[in-house]
Amino acid sequence: MFLSEKTPLLAVDIGTHSIKMAQMSGSKNKFELMSFSIMPLKEGCIVDGVIQQPDEVVDTLAKMIKVEKIDTKYAVASIAGEAVIIKKIRVPVMTEAELTENIQKEAEQYIPFDIDDVSIDFQILESKGKRSEDEQKDGTMEILLVAVQRDMIDSRIDILYDAGLRPAIIDLDVFAMVNAFELGADSSTREEEAIAVIDLGESFTHLNIMQDGLTAYTRDIPFGGSFCTSKLMSKFDMPYKDIVQLKLGAIPSEIKSDEVVEVIVQSFEKILVEIQKSFEFFSTTSNSQVDRVLLTGGGALIAGVENLFSHHLKTPVEILNPMKGIKVNARNFDQDTIETMGPLSTVAIGLAARRFDYQ
Ligand SMILES: Nc1ncnc2c1ncn2[C@@H]1O[C@H](COP(=O)(O)OP(=O)(O)OP(=O)(O)O)[C@@H](O)[C@H]1O
Ligand SMILES: [Mg+2]
Repeated sequence: MFLSEKTPLLAVDIGTHSIKMAQMSGSKNKFELMSFSIMPLKEGCIVDGVIQQPDEVVDTLAKMIKVEKIDTKYAVASIAGEAVIIKKIRVPVMTEAELTENIQKEAEQYIPFDIDDVSIDFQILESKGKRSEDEQKDGTMEILLVAVQRDMIDSRIDILYDAGLRPAIIDLDVFAMVNAFELGADSSTREEEAIAVIDLGESFTHLNIMQDGLTAYTRDIPFGGSFCTSKLMSKFDMPYKDIVQLKLGAIPSEIKSDEVVEVIVQSFEKILVEIQKSFEFFSTTSNSQVDRVLLTGGGALIAGVENLFSHHLKTPVEILNPMKGIKVNARNFDQDTIETMGPLSTVAIGLAARRFDYQ
C-alpha cells in the first residue's frame, strides 16, 4: 500500500485494560498531537494478549472513533506477548535481498512455532555502518529476527476492519516504545548508554533494552498490573474503581498506607525478579550494564514505583512520558489530563510517530 507522509494515520493500541488511540500531525522532531483518547475494556475481553471477545473490542473502538470524530480510515496497530519472538541471531553474510529469500530456512531453528504459521521480518544489525570484528572473522552477521504468529496479526486486523478502519501497518509494542522514547530523548543521552524502557501494562511487562539507538534485548514478561489489582482486592474489601485509586496513592483514612504499600511491593516482586534476570542476561551477552531505566504504561502511575524499582535494580529510574516530546496545544487538550495520562499513551504515541519511518 502506498502511504505518503501526508496520509493521516490513526494509531490504535489495543491493551488488556484499555484501548488507546492517538493521531499526530507534522513531521519528525515537530510532531503535534491531534487527538488522544483512552477507553477501558471489560474484564475478559483480552486474556494473555489473546482477544477473547472481539465484538466488545470492536464496539469500544468504534465508539472511540465516533466520540473523537475521527475521519481517518488508515490505522496502525501493534502486537505483543508470547506470540512474538524477537531475537538477535547470526547468519552467513549476505545481502538483504538474499536474506529475504533465505530467512525462513535461517530462522526455523529459533522459532518455537510451526514456521508456516508465523510472519517473519528481520533487520541487519550494523552499528555505525561497519560490521563487527566477529562478522569479518567467521563470515557471519548479526540480525534482529522478528517472528509473529499469524493468528495474532489476523485477529488484530479483523478488529480494525470491523471497526471501519483499514489496517496499514501492524507493528510491535516494544518497537513503538522505542519510538516514543526517541521523541523526547534529551541530548544528554550518550550513544553507548544502555537504556531499559519498561512498559508496566495490565497483563504484560514489556521490556526493551536499547544501545547505540538499536534494540539490544527485548522481552514481554507475561505478568503485569492485574496481579497487583487482584492482590489488593483480596486484601481490602473495596470496589474495583477504589482499588485503582489505592494504587495511585488515594488511600482512605480507615486504611493504613503501609499495608497498601506492602501489597504493592509484594506484587511487583515477581516482575522485578524477571527484570533482574533479563538485565543479567543482557550484561553477560553484551559486556555492559543497564545505565538507566525508564518506566511507562499504567503501572508507572502507581505511587512510589520509581523508588521501588531503583531500590531493587540498583539503577537510576525515571518515568517516561512521551507527551513531553511532542507539541500539545493547550487550546485543544486539558494539560493536567495529558500530563497524568502521558505514560499510558506510550505505545499509541510511538505507533503514531513510527509510521513516518515507513517512507
Ligand atoms: N488513570 C488511569 N486510567 C487507566 N488505567 C490506570 C490509570 N491509572 C492507573 N491505571 C492502571 O494501569 C494499568 C493498565 O495499564 P496499561 O493501560 O498500560 O495496560 P494495557 O496497555 O491495557 O495492558 P497490556 O499492555 O498489558 O495489554 C491498570 O492496572 C490500571 O489499574
Ligand atoms: Mg499496553
